[in-house]
Amino acid sequence: MASTIFTSRKLAAKLAAKYGTPIYVYNLRGLEARAKQLLEACSIAGCLPRYAIKANPHERILKLFARLGLGFDASSEYEGELAVSIGIAPQKINLSSQQPPKDLEKILQSRVEFTATSLHQLELVAQTGWQGNIGVRINPGIGAGGTNRTATGGVSASFGIWHEYIPKILRWQKRSGCQIVRLHIHIGSGYDPKIWHSSINTALSLVEQLPSVTILNMGGGFKVARMPDETEAGMAKIIRSFNIALKDFRRRTDRDLRLEIEPGTWLVANNGLILSRVVDIVDTGKNGFQFIKLDTGMNDFLRPAMYGAQHEIEVLNQATSKKHYVVVGHNCESGDILTPEPGNPELIRPRLLNMAGIGDLVAIGGAGAYGASMRVAGYNSFPSAAEVFVDE
Ligand code: LLP
Repeated sequence: MASTIFTSRKLAAKLAAKYGTPIYVYNLRGLEARAKQLLEACSIAGCLPRYAIKANPHERILKLFARLGLGFDASSEYEGELAVSIGIAPQKINLSSQQPPKDLEKILQSRVEFTATSLHQLELVAQTGWQGNIGVRINPGIGAGGTNRTATGGVSASFGIWHEYIPKILRWQKRSGCQIVRLHIHIGSGYDPKIWHSSINTALSLVEQLPSVTILNMGGGFKVARMPDETEAGMAKIIRSFNIALKDFRRRTDRDLRLEIEPGTWLVANNGLILSRVVDIVDTGKNGFQFIKLDTGMNDFLRPAMYGAQHEIEVLNQATSKKHYVVVGHNCESGDILTPEPGNPELIRPRLLNMAGIGDLVAIGGAGAYGASMRVAGYNSFPSAAEVFVDE
């Protein structure tokens, strides 16, 4: 895999001199290439790719993806409003949120495509008296995630309507006068690509129970390789397997389905990094650890502290010798660790890095997704890292 640290030492120094640190740096050219790669992969199946705004709602990224022809997945009415406010057509947005929108009737009238994620949300739709096409998110009873905290399907997940309640959904449809045209499932994020081949069959077995469905949205969750030992989901291979399954479904049922997916991570993760600076180096004695303290932390980037997520870290100096360091953030919080044990934020895992000095620049890769969008903003009253774009 290519390094996720896409800035040279020279460019990093120039950016730090111009903007200070810490900053998020996004690679416009990489974002465009990724979106085009996705559109190409999806074209073989006539699949509509939607960008999951929650991964990174930065307006420049939304505008770029809109210009390139992607649709959008909004996880709250606020993401939907943001997209519409920057000129994205409502009908390009599918809204499926855990929290019922405050003004549901306005959304239903606005041509945003609404997907109900609970029986209660279906009731709220019926109460508006609105009659039109609608989606339902179903919990298919299976879940998978790169970590146990990123699985969003199965008996311990609250996302979507439990699959055994499909008869209730059909009764609601008759009563409401609405037409359920979209089945939406999303079983988790960052999981083993092999699982996709079984999840499509599970999804199609649910579609069979909903005769009015013409659109199957397989959600997001496509894994990227943030570390050299990780494997990326082969998007073209997955879409091809979806396409084969849909063709088989059409042969069996004479029903044509339009396919949608909604990646977030796969599009933006490795086109974003954090550029920070070493503010201190401490140790805990000859049998202890060497700690690098950065001028960033969980108030900008939570993934390592939350999941034990692994990200490439590079000390951008010309040191020829290396040392094992624990890299920590600047928050007064013992969990503000950037080198946790893989998958276990409770433990630390020292990382072999260039010998560091106070003032050195340090880059953290794979931070384009769920970085700025998922930070503990304002913790210890630190200002949030600014977000800048380069065209690498
Ligand atoms: N669609 C739905 C309905 C979702 O809930 C999500 C993510 C996506 C699409 C996009 O999934 P992606 O392709 O980005 O994996 N904070 C975690 C990821 C949680 C994602 C939650 N839902 C992380 O940092 O890995």
